[in-house]
Amino acid sequence: MEKLIITCPDDWHCHVRNGEMLKTVLPHTARQFARAIIMPNLKPPVTTVAEALNYRAEILQAIPKGLNFTPLMTLYLTSSTTPLDVQQASENPHVVAFKLYPAGATTNSDAGVSQLQAIYPVLAAMQDFDMPLLVHGEVTDAECDIFDREQVFVETQLGAIVREFPALRIVLEHVTTEAAVQFVLENSANIAATITPQHLLYNRNAMLVGGIKPHFYCLPILKREQHRLALVEAAISGNPKFFLGTDSAPHLTTLKENACGCAGCFSAHAALELYAEIFEANNALDKLEGFASFFGADFYRLPRNTEIVTLTKSTWTVPDSYGEAECRITPLRAGEAVHWKLG
Ligand code: DOR
Ligand code: ZN
Repeated sequence: MEKLIITCPDDWHCHVRNGEMLKTVLPHTARQFARAIIMPNLKPPVTTVAEALNYRAEILQAIPKGLNFTPLMTLYLTSSTTPLDVQQASENPHVVAFKLYPAGATTNSDAGVSQLQAIYPVLAAMQDFDMPLLVHGEVTDAECDIFDREQVFVETQLGAIVREFPALRIVLEHVTTEAAVQFVLENSANIAATITPQHLLYNRNAMLVGGIKPHFYCLPILKREQHRLALVEAAISGNPKFFLGTDSAPHLTTLKENACGCAGCFSAHAALELYAEIFEANNALDKLEGFASFFGADFYRLPRNTEIVTLTKSTWTVPDSYGEAECRITPLRAGEAVHWKLG
C-alpha cells in the first residue's frame, strides 16, 4: 500500500516542556496530532488548575498559525494534593486527568508520591469525580533492578489501587513489559495503557550493544525482545485498551550525551510515521487507525476527531538535530531513514 488515509490521531502522553524548548518541540506535536495529553512534570510541577491554565496559555501561544491543536492538561499528584483540588480539576474543561509519579522514578519526579496509601483519599475523590489517573508504573526501591521496576510495580502496587477503587479509570502509561500488558488485559475496561514508538521498535540491545546509545535511554527503560513482542501484539490487537502515547520527552542533546544522561526520547517529529512502520512490519496497517485515532478518545470520553490525515510510503532522512544551538535536541532516528511520510 502506498497511501494510508486515517482519522486525525491524538497523542495521549506527551512532554512539551516550557520556555524555549516548548517553542522548538510543540510545532512537531501540533503538526502530527489534533490533541495531546500534556504531562505536568515541569520544574516546578503543574499541581493546580491555575498553573495548568497558565501553562495551557503558553502552549497555545506556541502553536504555529493555521494548525488546529488542543492541549489536554493534567495535574501532578503530590502528597499535598487534596480532594478539593480534584473537584476543581473536574469542573474545568481543560484539565482532563491527574498524573502519578512515584517520587524519584524519573525526570522531575522528586515532588511525586512516596506513600501511595497516603493519597488514597485523593484517589477516592478522583473515582467520585470521574477523573482518570495516569500512572508512571515503576517502583523506586534502590534494591529493585531497573529492568524489573515496572513488573514489580504492577504486581505490588497497581493491583491494590484497582481493587480499592474499581470505578477509577486508570491509564498505565508507556507499558514496557509482558506483565503490564497482561495486567491491563485481565482487568476491567477502566484499565488501559499507552504504548510508545520506541518500546514497539526497539529492545535494550539497541541501547547497549556496540556502545551506549544515550538517545535510546528513557524510563521505563527498553526491555528484552520478548517484552517488545508482547507490546507489538497488544498494539496491533485491535483491543481498545491499548492506544497511542508517544511519551515524546525532549532533552538538550548536551544533557543526553552526558556522563549522567537524562531519560527521554524525542519522537514528536516522526511519531505517526514510526508507528506506521511497526504496524506495517506486522501486517496490521488496518489496525493503526483504532490505536492512533479512536481508542484514546473513547477512553477519555472525548469525541473522535473528524478530520483525516494521509500517510505516504516515502523514505526521508531525519535531521541530526532540531532547534537552535542553545536548544539543540537529537530526535529518535537522527540521521537515519523513516519510511512513511505524513502529509
Ligand atoms: O524517559 C522519560 N522521560 N520517562 C519519563 O517518565 C519522563 C520523561 C521526561 O520527562 O523526560
Ligand atoms: Zn512521560
